[in-house]
Amino acid sequence: MTMTISLFLHVISDVVWIGGMFLAYMAVRPAVAEALDAPPQRLKLWLGIFRRFFPWVWLAVALILGTGFAMMGMLATVPAYVMAMALIGIVMSAIFVYIYFVPFAQLRRAVAAEDWKSGGGALGTIRTLVGTNLVLGVVNVAVAVLGRGM
Ligand code: HEM
Repeated sequence: MTMTISLFLHVISDVVWIGGMFLAYMAVRPAVAEALDAPPQRLKLWLGIFRRFFPWVWLAVALILGTGFAMMGMLATVPAYVMAMALIGIVMSAIFVYIYFVPFAQLRRAVAAEDWKSGGGALGTIRTLVGTNLVLGVVNVAVAVLGRGM
């Protein structure tokens, strides 16, 4: 695969993942808190959102890591900012995998069992971790674009 196609897949995947987290954190979260008072409705809505969004995140993570390492292999020398991007990208991916298999799994079980207390706890963990990944994602775009320009 050429560098240009790899870079396109790399960046479009970043856009989907980081843009999705931005919408969830900055718009959906406060809107849901405003509109829905009852925990069952809130938790079911979040579960429905994550169920549909997370498969796209898996695809984005696979493409970002795949194209990232492929492009790295095409560079004659690997600059420091690319090393930093790779490191931050791997940390973000690990956080997503954790979200998926731990608090998201807990949220699914809690909603199925109508255990709203446990579901609320899981959602709180997901919120914190998605907030962390959103900050890391924005930092990584800065590292990638500003690092390249320097
Ligand atoms: C969520 C994580 C990541 C984000 C947000 C991100 C973001 C970006 C962006 C915006 C660019 C385009 C830079 C430009 O053309 O000015 C880029 C290029 C690149 N990324 Fe990433 N990246 C991430 C993860 C990774 C990973 C994990 C690797 C390596 C394993 C990697 C390796 C590369 C390489 C080699 C380039 C091309 C650099 C160049 O042409 O100088 N990236 N990345």
